[in-house]
Amino acid sequence: MLIRELLINEIKNIKTKGFYRRLNENKNDDTVINLSSNDYLGLAYNSKIKRTAKQIISKYPLSSTSSPLMYGYFKPHIDLENKLCKFKGGYERCILYPSGYQANLGIISALSKISFSKTFIAFDELSHASIIDGVLCSKTKFSRFKHNDPNHLKNILKKHSSYDIKIVITEGVFSMDGDIANLPDIIDVSKCYNAITIIDDAHATGTIGSFGGGSCNYYNGVKPDIIMGTLGKALASEGAFVLSDSLMIDYFINKSRPYIFSTAISPVAAGIALEALNIIENKPELVRKLQTLSQNIRIFLKNNGLNILNSNTHIIPILIGDEKKAAAIEKKFINEGILLKSVKYPTVAKGQARLRFSVNAGLRNIEIKKVLKKLSDLNNIKK
Ligand SMILES: Cc1ncc(COP(=O)(O)O)c(C=O)c1O
Repeated sequence: MLIRELLINEIKNIKTKGFYRRLNENKNDDTVINLSSNDYLGLAYNSKIKRTAKQIISKYPLSSTSSPLMYGYFKPHIDLENKLCKFKGGYERCILYPSGYQANLGIISALSKISFSKTFIAFDELSHASIIDGVLCSKTKFSRFKHNDPNHLKNILKKHSSYDIKIVITEGVFSMDGDIANLPDIIDVSKCYNAITIIDDAHATGTIGSFGGGSCNYYNGVKPDIIMGTLGKALASEGAFVLSDSLMIDYFINKSRPYIFSTAISPVAAGIALEALNIIENKPELVRKLQTLSQNIRIFLKNNGLNILNSNTHIIPILIGDEKKAAAIEKKFINEGILLKSVKYPTVAKGQARLRFSVNAGLRNIEIKKVLKKLSDLNNIKK
């Protein structure tokens, strides 16, 4: 019985602080405007991809039936890996993970367990929970560097230069702030100290760069040692990928426990992501539409006195501050048919609660108008 009492107390505490989370069914109602989806290009509803999915399902098993090393590795997986190697900037090899969370956990912890070597990790202070958990799982020495600050990173690496392996981790597009990592400087500093760079391109894939290629496409010529990304956002599927040279990927296949001990994504999930990449490649105007629409919305929100932090992408935070106020605004918007999720601690720092506006290239003009009208009134609602 004791555990029940303890749990009741924990939940009570969470509620008192305004950090309580609950599940809300997505009723798939097309009269509701969803501004919280990571389906940035609107491809999750694409009819061509749905037709491709049907063909794959008729040819392959519904599930992958096992982990990749136990023959859960089919042609759609191989085709997707090959495509990602090219699309993401010319990497030698790719592997697929069941989720981005597992990919980050898997690669970071594997790199920290190389025999007879001491590893040090530096990561951006605004990194996603899966990066933080990967670092904690690695049980190695680490430091957070100030957000997007190569000078601070440099000081940290200098102090830890005696470590055999040094790893620097950041995100291409930050999931809660919507700004883009200063990769040229971060990679330069890392190279000076012989540190391996890992970039999480979960929110950059399909969204930034001239053809939506992500970080390497946005900063033409920049090439991190390892790139990971997810299939569950702009690529309309689920799962994740990790790209690097053949040796590194071979090491992960042999040492990354979330890769080895988990069922592979289904052949249809791989086929969906591959078809999404084909569409992005053949229709770069879709990516440009997302970029232009995002820019116009950012300008509108700023002109209306809202604080969107340093967002320069399709992820636009609208800072509210107080957790309870942010939750109340979310509720008000739901009643008006708009899903605009409030994000609070521990996803972001305490007192930094915000509405996270994810722009979607599939939004119709009438929907955008309705949303912007409501948001222009937000300063009155906030009071
Ligand atoms: C930056 C970042 N990395 C990793 C992940 C985890 O990806 P997945 O949802 O595939 O587990 C997310 C998820 O939102 C993310 O935002």
